[in-house]
Amino acid sequence: MKLAPSILAADLAAMGDAVRLCEEGGADLVHVDVMDGHFVPNLTFGPPMVAALRRRTKLPLDVHLMVANPERLLDSYLEAGASWVSVHVEATAHLDRLLARIRAAGARAGAVLNPATPVAQLADCLSALDFVLVMSVNPGFAGQRFIPYALDKVRRLAELVRAAGLPVEIEIDGGIGLDNVVDAVAAGADVCVAGSAVFASPDPAARMRELKQVAAGALR
Ligand code: DX5
Ligand code: ZN
Repeated sequence: MKLAPSILAADLAAMGDAVRLCEEGGADLVHVDVMDGHFVPNLTFGPPMVAALRRRTKLPLDVHLMVANPERLLDSYLEAGASWVSVHVEATAHLDRLLARIRAAGARAGAVLNPATPVAQLADCLSALDFVLVMSVNPGFAGQRFIPYALDKVRRLAELVRAAGLPVEIEIDGGIGLDNVVDAVAAGADVCVAGSAVFASPDPAARMRELKQVAAGALR
């Protein structure tokens, strides 16, 4: 399993420390939650923040765009150095075009499903996707409670991906911690985002290693 700690849950006055902790803890990606105050009721990181993080770390930046009109903001985040970029299917009428733009910029293209958005929405465009992000909370805030039916969605998506024989990775985001990371991986998640489970811990780097170890147990 790949671990993508969400720096939204870190000390926002110390982002440099947050990415250093990600490196120390053996994180595979740094998850960057972009919120615009419209698509979700919260406002976070702009392209200059992504560019600053890019200068601080070699880890891939996994930019989760929770914005209305992603077509308007996409290029700025790609230019800032995003490595993986995901857009919410609920936020665009032209998902295929956006995914193609992400790939054309050399980044990995992802689509995000809100908890109530059916997996079937992506059934026909799997070949345009490098990954799918399944939300297991309603987007907007770190530290919310995990929505259990997200696991069924991960299972169904994993089945679709297997049947298609395509290398689409499945990421799960929201409420993941030591108590449910095994369930997520067993359901078929390849990448787990963890915000408060990591950064509310007194030793975030140790917690990252622990999450990866526990998840590895699920695959044995
Ligand atoms: C929610 C964000 C998540 C969040 C995860 O809108 O997309 O990435 O930061 O935080 P936890 O793991 O605390 O739910
Ligand atoms: Zn996220």
